[in-house]
Amino acid sequence: MVRIDGIAVAAKVMEETRIRIAALAKRGITPGLAVVLVGDDPASRAYVRSKDRKAAELGLHSVKKELSADTTQAELLAVVAELNADPSIHGILVQSPPPPQIDEAEIVKAIDPRKDVDGFHPVNVAKLAMEDPTGFVPCTPLGCIRLLIEAGIETAGRKAVVVGRSMIVGKPMALLLMKRGLGGDATVTVAHSRTRDLAAVTREADIVIAAIGRPNFLGADHIREGAVVIDVGINRIEDPSTPKGYRLVGDVDYDAVADKCAAITPVPGGVGPMTIAMLMSNCVSAAERLNA
Ligand code: GUN
Repeated sequence: MVRIDGIAVAAKVMEETRIRIAALAKRGITPGLAVVLVGDDPASRAYVRSKDRKAAELGLHSVKKELSADTTQAELLAVVAELNADPSIHGILVQSPPPPQIDEAEIVKAIDPRKDVDGFHPVNVAKLAMEDPTGFVPCTPLGCIRLLIEAGIETAGRKAVVVGRSMIVGKPMALLLMKRGLGGDATVTVAHSRTRDLAAVTREADIVIAAIGRPNFLGADHIREGAVVIDVGINRIEDPSTPKGYRLVGDVDYDAVADKCAAITPVPGGVGPMTIAMLMSNCVSAAERLNA
């Protein structure tokens, strides 16, 4: 069994990104990333903090906007409009999920698609579906494809099952796997909460992408011998024996399936670091394109 090392691959992506940042610096351009957090969900707060920290580490112009949980739709739209108009900002990210009074789809549509480094704007979703490379692709699925490529896992002609149909992971993941070219050309099935006999579906897969958001949900019954497993889940489960009182587990029961797999990503240290690395790369792409 190969343990796919997301920390090592993320470091490689960061190194490539540093070279591109240096090239922009020679032209007097510093990529700027704005990360907006509404409310105080602890997991979202932790993600936003690490995005901001990574951006600063790379020497990006990093702006973190933390808005109170009772922020109105109009107030958030005003923040987005201000960031759209700010020439020092090339990438804008509004952390998902926002509090219930916020209409997330409307916020996403308000972001300038050229600054939509999350790839959530309808223009970018359409570009991905149309295989138009000028769009932005959501960071987590982009990171999963890069992990498959770096691990030398063939996707062409193979059966991939994506478990989960979210706009952030499941849908773009399926589009990327079926896309023509390296890391694509797979035969893709999307399973979700209404799928009948999920285990029978996932057992058919050469490659399983787990993006369900439920701790240890896929077990030995779901994975066939020799399959490749990419675990997108980052779930906090209570563990009083740890200093924080919780630990992180994936959507896949790692210990139950690891011996059966040809390759698997751990949690933490698999997909998580890739998401941030791809975000940095997307932000630098935005700065390059806006200054082309
Ligand atoms: N919440 C979980 N993943 C993501 C992501 O990639 N982008 C944003 N904006 N919110 C998220």
